[in-house]
Amino acid sequence: MVTHLPVMVAEATEMLRIRPGGTYVDATVGLGGHAERIRALAGPGGKVIGIDRDEEALKAARARLADQGIILEKGRFSDLGDLLAEEAEEGIDGILFDFGASMMQFKDPGRGFSFTSEEPLDMRMDRSQAEKAEDIVNTRSERELERILKEYGEERFAPKIAKAIVRSRAKKKIASCRELAEIVSSVYRGRGKHHPATKTFQALRIAVNDELDEIRKGLDASLGLLKTAGRLCTISYHSLEDRTVKNFLKDAQREGLVRVITKKPLTPAADEKRANPSARSAKLRGAEKL
Ligand SMILES: C[S@@+](CC[C@H](N)C(=O)[O-])C[C@H]1O[C@@H](n2cnc3c(N)ncnc32)[C@H](O)[C@@H]1O
Repeated sequence: MVTHLPVMVAEATEMLRIRPGGTYVDATVGLGGHAERIRALAGPGGKVIGIDRDEEALKAARARLADQGIILEKGRFSDLGDLLAEEAEEGIDGILFDFGASMMQFKDPGRGFSFTSEEPLDMRMDRSQAEKAEDIVNTRSERELERILKEYGEERFAPKIAKAIVRSRAKKKIASCRELAEIVSSVYRGRGKHHPATKTFQALRIAVNDELDEIRKGLDASLGLLKTAGRLCTISYHSLEDRTVKNFLKDAQREGLVRVITKKPLTPAADEKRANPSARSAKLRGAEKL
């Protein structure tokens, strides 16, 4: 099984100001690292609910968190309002979002998130969803592919890559992660420290899972669920996620709905960055419901 080190656990749980007996939601429970810590701090009288759209993550979380009394539910966080209808009346004390894909999704063979593998181009966090990355790559117009690469990958070679994809799929359907990575590499200029296909894969992952819209809707739903003085805490891993959160919180503050706690996002301590490469780009933001 893939192990996963939860990111900025101490900072996030401190920001959530977890108190014994409170009700807390981990909207991206993954393998349960944060949820486990929240459970310990909320004490036996507290209620902790973990949500994930990925059945396999939930299965792993169930195995890991067995007997800890954490309620686990499958769903998208854009549906938090429905998923937490029971808790809505009394309200929730704190909600955590740890965005993006988990190590399990990146590393498990067959999920199609990794560009170095022969895996089918999948990238669905929820495998019951119909559309896979393969469908986007093989059916969307060149213009639409270019938009996805620009908007969700900030890829400066978006027009060239979109053209190369369309040219290649006219000969043969693009089926594997490696095939797509090779197409991207064939038109990429310049050398950086990242694989040329990094931004393309990020863009497709965001498109397949509608990630930015999910963030906006999830944050919006949270505001309707938090008690006054309840706290919202987010961990982002790239600029598009972080910008989406920053803009949402700025608007919510302007409308008098929240007080933003983090003028600037917190980042992991040097020790954590050294010990956990996945934490390197993490940015933590928080807000308090007014
Ligand atoms: C970075 S991982 C979370 C890791 C977790 N905090 C831990 O300690 O193990 C992100 C998780 O959020 C889930 N996820 C992403 N977008 C989601 C959404 N819109 N709704 C529900 N879960 C989502 C992913 O399936 C993944 O398991």
